[in-house]
Amino acid sequence: MTSFRSVRLAQRPTGIPSPDTWAIESEELPALAPGEFAVGVKYISLDPAMRGWLDDRPSYLPPVELGAIMRAGSVGTVTESLNANFPVGAQVVGTFGVTEVAISDGSGVHIVSSDLAPLPAFLGVLGMTGMTAYFGLFELGKPRAGDVVVVSAAAGAVGSIVGQIAKINGCTVIGIAGGKEKCEYITNTLGFDYCIDYKEETGMRKQLGTALKTVGAQGVDVYFDNVGGEMLNANLAYLSFGARVVICGAISQYNDTEITPGPSNYMNLLVKRATMTGFLVFDYASQFSMAQRRIGAWIAQGKITAPETVVEGKIDAFPATLNRLFTGDNLGKLVLKIT
Ligand SMILES: NC(=O)c1ccc[n+]([C@@H]2O[C@H](COP(=O)([O-])OP(=O)(O)OC[C@H]3O[C@@H](n4cnc5c(N)ncnc54)[C@H](OP(=O)(O)O)[C@@H]3O)[C@@H](O)[C@H]2O)c1
Repeated sequence: MTSFRSVRLAQRPTGIPSPDTWAIESEELPALAPGEFAVGVKYISLDPAMRGWLDDRPSYLPPVELGAIMRAGSVGTVTESLNANFPVGAQVVGTFGVTEVAISDGSGVHIVSSDLAPLPAFLGVLGMTGMTAYFGLFELGKPRAGDVVVVSAAAGAVGSIVGQIAKINGCTVIGIAGGKEKCEYITNTLGFDYCIDYKEETGMRKQLGTALKTVGAQGVDVYFDNVGGEMLNANLAYLSFGARVVICGAISQYNDTEITPGPSNYMNLLVKRATMTGFLVFDYASQFSMAQRRIGAWIAQGKITAPETVVEGKIDAFPATLNRLFTGDNLGKLVLKIT
């Protein structure tokens, strides 16, 4: 019998997950039932949403149960199979969890090919985060040429793609990111028009005012919010008439231990006849292959660069790697490569 290790939820965290949030356990691989196959997991996706899945509160997915293997998207190779649709050797993407080996019946699993793109891309730009950028921007942001698009967590997996797609569509793009290096990357490599380093002392509202003046804009037409808090509030203060605020996430609040007050500038939505709408990427699943083809073409044409931070390690590296999302220690899509 083969044994494998996985990361289970040992206790629900308060604030940032700590080592005792997790238990790393070894178990024997059971015999496969008809229709099942085993996947040797190679790349595990690290996502801010994981923090929310640890809390025992209603959300768009049920919380991870205490003692259960941590939920995660991953890519791997079929190592044993009693399912003709997923033969041994097939490369697959699915929600296999934080584990070295997963058993699946094929639900929600797709075959991918490393001939088309490196495997981590199926978790990033051609996977969940790329789809989030695409549908959040087009379906809710509705960008038009000449619009000013502001995106927060702009050097991250979602934000980096949002800004580049907005540029392809003729928008002026202002990114907000933490630190000089990230800001230089966003403007020099990704082609954003301006970057606000929110870690500088000047307040967000003042910095956004300067950014808008520098790019010659009157206000924000689309704000793609990955962060919440002060960034959301500052953008609400500068909305253009008919602006669209896209609520993608609020990472600045995911580890809060008390309820965070809402944005005080929200009445500007009324004044500017603007909208503020949340969305969930999975609602667009039926259109993913169309978006993957479009993004794939942009990558092939050199119009999109997809930054990735690939951390190599054993499954034990998961807890520390997850926390890098909350300290900003990633550029683009953060992935754990199981060695
Ligand atoms: N709605 C959906 O369907 C959906 C799907 C996927 C993701 N999301 C959301 O999209 C957002 C981005 O996710 P991602 O996977 O692309 O992650 P990411 O941007 O690659 O990584 C998270 C980034 O957030 C920034 N950050 C962390 N704590 C912060 C804080 N307190 N204040 C400001 N910035 C902070 C860090 O960048 P800096 O160094 O710049 O601080 C960090 O690199 C998240 O809010 C996530 O929940 C939503």
